[in-house]
Amino acid sequence: MILDLGTGIFEGQPPQSARRLGELASIFRNPEAAKGMDPRTPVYETYGCPGEVEGPARLLYATTVLHPGQVGGEFFMTRGHFHTDPARGELMLTLRGHGALILMDRDRNTWTEPMEPGSVHDIDGRYAHRVANTGDELLVFYVAWMSDCGHDYESIREQGFGKILVEGPAGPVLTS
Ligand code: NI
Repeated sequence: MILDLGTGIFEGQPPQSARRLGELASIFRNPEAAKGMDPRTPVYETYGCPGEVEGPARLLYATTVLHPGQVGGEFFMTRGHFHTDPARGELMLTLRGHGALILMDRDRNTWTEPMEPGSVHDIDGRYAHRVANTGDELLVFYVAWMSDCGHDYESIREQGFGKILVEGPAGPVLTS
């Protein structure tokens, strides 16, 4: 199997998922700001394994291709989730572009790690995680996780993260 490091595509494989702005507008602090934008605007695609699979626990992997863009000054980002098993972490490797890994603990403390080509991120299974594209090109990253980690997207969908990442005068800024 060959992974194209520039596009994040595993040779010959269609996307596992393709998320567009129309279905993601509600994850942004100001979804109204998306109303003037084309709802078909691509935000991110994933390639590789589905999030969960049946059977004995095993390692899964995927790439995400996150497009550049903003909604009301907030950078395009993934939905984000907690792992239901806090003992199951996740490994991330940035292949292309620039962004931020946004992390949050159960007390809603929120912080970021900068992402750039070659940056490696050892995500503790206790922390919610999502990724924002802070650059003006595609952000491509590879992740690996255990199939039995469990995904809780619901908590994030309802409450978001403790802070949002917006464009500031001197670069990305986390703000309440
Ligand atoms: Ni995860």
